[in-house]
Amino acid sequence: MKTNYQSNTTIDEIADKIYRISTPVPPEAIAGGFTFNQYLVVDAQPMVYHTGPRKMFPFTSEAISAIIPVNTLRYIGFSHYEADECGALNDFLEAAPGAEPLCSTIAKMVSIDDIAIRPARALADGEQLSLGEKVIQWIDTPHFPHGWECGHLFETTTKTLFCSDLFTQGGDKHEPLTESDILDSSEKMRGALDYYSHTRHAHELVDKLAMTSPRVLACMHGSAWQGDGALLLRKLADRLAV
Ligand SMILES: [Fe+2]
Ligand SMILES: [Fe+2]
Repeated sequence: MKTNYQSNTTIDEIADKIYRISTPVPPEAIAGGFTFNQYLVVDAQPMVYHTGPRKMFPFTSEAISAIIPVNTLRYIGFSHYEADECGALNDFLEAAPGAEPLCSTIAKMVSIDDIAIRPARALADGEQLSLGEKVIQWIDTPHFPHGWECGHLFETTTKTLFCSDLFTQGGDKHEPLTESDILDSSEKMRGALDYYSHTRHAHELVDKLAMTSPRVLACMHGSAWQGDGALLLRKLADRLAV
């Protein structure tokens, strides 16, 4: 399924009932072009993961409404506190009266319960939460790739790892889901922008993520990826160690 919007926002199902909502930004606006991907998980308690920047809220919410009514969202989840991950949080909380922010315990303590119009539902490291048929699990990854409060979310039934800014690929034209290499192109971006923290714990944090044996990596920028996620994560760890 693919739908085009005025903003060129596209919707593609990348795993069972998990939709990648991608808004491309052309090179005239961001050097080299870029994409912002939000993920919608359709279940009894629907979740959107990343809100997208506040200024993209009209596009993101319009895209979601092609699948489910926005006011039925139950959770507004995100990896860390940054405009593209949660800039539109309050817009979503206003549009969906039954929704809660969903984030790490550090994010709740440090930022979200101050800036959000409703308190957050924090997930502890390793904690699972049922959305209905799907079960999500939070994995704390402080400072990886950046932000003290950073973590990543794993959907256990489809083995989808929502890996936020890991494997960020530049450019504004990407397949929704690819099996081709995304490591080299994302390493080009890391080389140019140095957006990873320099935590000494990257290797063990990668191990925590790889232990889930993901089959889909739901990247926030660029294509989502399908394959042996543990292997690709460990290749990333090797690059980070150089
Ligand atoms: Fe980020
Ligand atoms: Fe991001």
